[in-house]
Amino acid sequence: MSGIDIASIGEDVPLLEGIRTTRAIRRLKPDPVPRELIRKVCEAGTFAPSGGNRQPWTFIAVMDPDRRAWVAERYRNAFRRYIAPAFEAAEQDPDFSDAKRRNMRAALHLADHLHEAPVHLFVAGWTRRGREQSQALFPAIQNILLACRAVGLGASLTTAHGSFRDDLDPWLGLRPETPSCALLPIGWPRGRYGRPPRRPVDECLYFDRVPEEGS
Ligand SMILES: Cc1cc2nc3c(=O)[nH]c(=O)nc-3n(C[C@H](O)[C@H](O)[C@H](O)COP(=O)(O)O)c2cc1C
Repeated sequence: MSGIDIASIGEDVPLLEGIRTTRAIRRLKPDPVPRELIRKVCEAGTFAPSGGNRQPWTFIAVMDPDRRAWVAERYRNAFRRYIAPAFEAAEQDPDFSDAKRRNMRAALHLADHLHEAPVHLFVAGWTRRGREQSQALFPAIQNILLACRAVGLGASLTTAHGSFRDDLDPWLGLRPETPSCALLPIGWPRGRYGRPPRRPVDECLYFDRVPEEGS
């Protein structure tokens, strides 16, 4: 996609409609994404709330093909190890839902094709008294996912890089006090955005208190 007007793209998507139609888009085209558009979605991330308004995020957009291949090889091995037991369970359980199977297959597709995703966006944070503060980053991460939805980019939230983070973080130039928390593979979607399957809100909303069981 060329000739994008970075200032206006995505500005017309109604907020709640955007929220309801943001989902994990894991099938991505290899076509390049302009750096200015990555800047725009990361800027949306910076408008997230954070404790004490500390704004502890660091964004690293890996775009170089050789560097993406380095990440993808390690991610694929890590994710295949992680997902193997779930695939075994699915094979033995006829009641394993189709939605779950689809989700697992899409996640595996992403792992096998990660090198093709034109942007590997890492979000890193901070530690307090030696403990990682990843909760401080998820509002910013969600803002980025929503901004990707608004501008028409496909994206998903992944954390499977955690198992090779000891090698990854120094390779990204990150210090132990600013560990990576999430990897958002971003690119132009092969499919379409749409409403994801979710429990009806009335199954999880209560007013004043959760009723006693049986009442
Ligand atoms: C904390 C967290 C970690 C996740 N890690 C991964 C991951 O490592 N790989 C992956 O493909 N998806 C990952 N996901 C994405 C979820 O699988 C996805 O949000 C869920 O299946 C719903 O997808 P949908 O919005 O398309 O319905 C993660 C989501 C969250 C919130």
